[in-house]
Amino acid sequence: MRWIHAALFGSALLIHNAVAEFKFSVTGTRNGVPIPQNEIKLVPFEFGRSRNTKGAVSPPHRQTKRANPTISSANWCGSVNYTPSSNQIKIVHAYWRHPTCTKRTGVTTYPQAVAAWAGIDGDTWLTALLQSGTVCKIDSATAQVRHEAWWQWVPEAAFTISTMPVNPGDWFEVTINTTSTTAGTITLTNIDRGHTYTIHLTGGPTLGRINADFVVERPYYGGSLASFASFTETWFQDAYAVRTTGSNLGLLGANQYQIPGLCASAEYDNLNGRSWSL
Ligand SMILES: *[C@@H]1O[C@H](CO)[C@@H](O)[C@H](O)[C@H]1NC(C)=O
Repeated sequence: MRWIHAALFGSALLIHNAVAEFKFSVTGTRNGVPIPQNEIKLVPFEFGRSRNTKGAVSPPHRQTKRANPTISSANWCGSVNYTPSSNQIKIVHAYWRHPTCTKRTGVTTYPQAVAAWAGIDGDTWLTALLQSGTVCKIDSATAQVRHEAWWQWVPEAAFTISTMPVNPGDWFEVTINTTSTTAGTITLTNIDRGHTYTIHLTGGPTLGRINADFVVERPYYGGSLASFASFTETWFQDAYAVRTTGSNLGLLGANQYQIPGLCASAEYDNLNGRSWSL
């Protein structure tokens, strides 16, 4: 891992582009009051590359409120909607409630984890994904559930915002606001605890800005797919993307990813989608 410090300001050479330099800085508020910079902690995170590994294609198993296309995946469960490159995504927004996570009955392999996030790209645009959300992780049969807030500009490393409180049932809001295909801000708020962090990003891996993702993920840690913990249903509310021209992109017609046997998702209306544990 290239990251040498759990610091506020980061910088690393891009693997595939020796010219551009990926940089970020973080600011935060607590109940509206700026958090002193030296109190904000960012820690390199052990997520592996977040990727949407589509599983063997099985016949669509329709459980949707609307007749969306249903796609099987090994690790994504949720809604992904698409826009042409002539009308790129500028902003992705969503609210969700961090789930209550429990050990999956009958599963004895660890870690068991569930990540909920919103993001841009990573589906049909495979070379970059800008994402932020929360994750719960159970490290062993006897371990407590750990909860963390995190962000990642794939293929760069992931970071937790270790000073962000995360509790089961807390409402979160994320706004990912890109000003170009390589720069933007992530604003992540724990609404129930009054914490907001804004991550300012420049020189990131080039986005296509063509996929809007609202996903519950079975995450990778390093190269290994974690077991998928059981979780209380996760709603993505006011889930939409603002585009360069024309109307906002909601969930209407979005692909619904399912992890067969583990998780299903459905669109309820254009701004509300749900993922639930099977
Ligand atoms: C997105 O960023 C632009 C440029 O900084 C800013 O003008 C705009 O208000 C931001 N929008 C949101 C919703 O944060």
